[in-house]
Amino acid sequence: MQILIQRPRRLRQTPALRALVAQTRLQPAELVLPVFVREGARNAQPIGSMPGVVQHSLDSLVDVAREAVAAGLGGLMIFGVPARRDATGSGADDREGILNVALRRVRAAVGDDLVVMADLCLDEFTDHGHCGLLDSQGRVDNDATLVRYAAMALAQATAGAHVVGLSGMMDGQVGYIRQALDQAGFTDTIILAYAAKYASGFYGPFREAVESTLEGDRSTYQQDPANATESLREVELDLEQGADIVMVKPALPYLDILSQVAQLSSVPVAAYQVSGEYAQIEAAAAQGWIDREKVMMESLICIRRAGAQIILTYYALEAARLLRR
Ligand code: PBG
Repeated sequence: MQILIQRPRRLRQTPALRALVAQTRLQPAELVLPVFVREGARNAQPIGSMPGVVQHSLDSLVDVAREAVAAGLGGLMIFGVPARRDATGSGADDREGILNVALRRVRAAVGDDLVVMADLCLDEFTDHGHCGLLDSQGRVDNDATLVRYAAMALAQATAGAHVVGLSGMMDGQVGYIRQALDQAGFTDTIILAYAAKYASGFYGPFREAVESTLEGDRSTYQQDPANATESLREVELDLEQGADIVMVKPALPYLDILSQVAQLSSVPVAAYQVSGEYAQIEAAAAQGWIDREKVMMESLICIRRAGAQIILTYYALEAARLLRR
């Protein structure tokens, strides 16, 4: 008797065949590079727990923005590291605050050739390191924080941000900021909502990158890693309130969430491959335990495959260069 063997391997024979049938592709235009800019820095400073990532000076930030344009990246997400912090995070909406100065410098250099995004959150600017204002009992005060976020949004839009990245996880932040932007005439400023953001240990190296002063954690506002369904609620609420793009964060440990969000969302979905995901790859590769480039590109394609249309990754420039080779 002749047995017919089904042969899926037939389509895997050569690189050309594999490229022909590949269901997921990566393009530089879908990648966004997160960058740190430090107030008063004369030149770029390395970040120990994120080898290859730096705290930029204003000048080196402008250089990297130009490199991002040349590499065909989709955008830049800028985080500010201020020299001074206070209880209300006053540096966040100060016209001369580091993030707003950086936005003006970058927009002057790249115009509309790159989508310029700003992190909209207070944690880098508060002396206690929380993402919002604290009440008299030391709890994060949701509604008082919204007022500060609105001021920050206006400062960032004025400074030239195309996109404000709402990473604070306060309830109602999307609607509140949308209204503040619209009333001030910034109807074209885009809101990228960190819709499903988990209280994750994978943010560890980021805390070094922004010199975070946080003691304790963010579990009262960021999501519990044990939960999936509430991500869908967070996304629905953000869509109702006018989010233009929704994001899931971290990426690789949360691909199930990403996949569900991608099915639900009527707007583009982004994912953030965070500092700890990056550091894990770097650390293992430095030991010679994994192939760095292979794992870097595999992690990105997997995030894409799970449903992210846009990926924020510290590998953006390097990946873009590899893709163009
Ligand atoms: C908050 C913010 C964080 C990150 C991005 N925005 C830190 C946190 O929520 O604790 C983490 C990014 C990363 O780890 O790469 N402004």
